[in-house]
Amino acid sequence: MRADDSSSSSVALITGAGKGIGLEVARQLGERGMTTIVTARTCEQSQAAAERIGGAERDIRAKTLDVTDQASVEQLKAEIEDEFGRLDVLVNNAAAFVNWSETALTADLEAASAVLATNLFGAWRMCQVFMPLLRRSTHGRIVIVSSGAGSHGEQQFGLTTGGGSVASYGISKAALNALTAKLAAELAGTGILVNAVCPGFTATAPGIKAMGARPIPEGAASVVWAATLPDDGPSGGFFRDGQPLPW
Ligand SMILES: NC(=O)c1ccc[n+]([C@@H]2O[C@H](COP(=O)([O-])OP(=O)(O)OC[C@H]3O[C@@H](n4cnc5c(N)ncnc54)[C@H](OP(=O)(O)O)[C@@H]3O)[C@@H](O)[C@H]2O)c1
Repeated sequence: MRADDSSSSSVALITGAGKGIGLEVARQLGERGMTTIVTARTCEQSQAAAERIGGAERDIRAKTLDVTDQASVEQLKAEIEDEFGRLDVLVNNAAAFVNWSETALTADLEAASAVLATNLFGAWRMCQVFMPLLRRSTHGRIVIVSSGAGSHGEQQFGLTTGGGSVASYGISKAALNALTAKLAAELAGTGILVNAVCPGFTATAPGIKAMGARPIPEGAASVVWAATLPDDGPSGGFFRDGQPLPW
């Protein structure tokens, strides 16, 4: 696959695409001609999302998916295998977080476990279950939507900033980065490229635009870059806007 050729026959799946960056990633991939599977936790949400970004020239499908639920993931895999026989692009975008004031010492560990169940184990489960379909692609791409919050070197929101705030979220993203490195090493030579991407501080919540968050299409483009890498593109890296980020 060339960088500018996202092959109109490609099939892309985005988790947590009912709104926010995931929805916009789906829109941008659909615009490039990919068959794009918009997933959300409820049928109503995924259908409404697909309708929002669909159109005569785009092939947007709606599916239900909860990444924490093994049966839900396996059901979706069976449907996609039945309909397409393979998957070309998997964007692990779904995420949960507790709140900005949560620290490692104050965290409710049940709530922190729920964050890890979605952010880390949800993406991990998706990669495991969908691997047989990705292996059938001639240009498989896995994008792990991470965050500067999981970086040791990111100056604004990284692990060592903010007095340790947003603890479980940052820890989950650091673990996702480690998962990216492990998957990329295991898949070396298969043609499947695996990268972690930070969309940057993006205005998906009310009020944060005023704090400097950038427009959703810009954050989504950072993700789409990794979903549409050429065959000789990088694997096992951590990027924002196509530039390496410190782990
Ligand atoms: N916005 C930023 O500034 C920023 C910065 C760095 C990284 N990121 C990352 O970018 C990605 C998208 O963030 P966003 O800002 O667009 O957040 P968002 O609007 O909260 O979207 C997150 C999506 O994940 C879904 N989700 C949560 N739990 C799920 C589950 N168990 N199964 C399936 N879907 C689930 C949510 O669905 P519901 O509607 O059902 O809750 C929602 O659609 C996340 O990975 C986030 O960590 C965002």
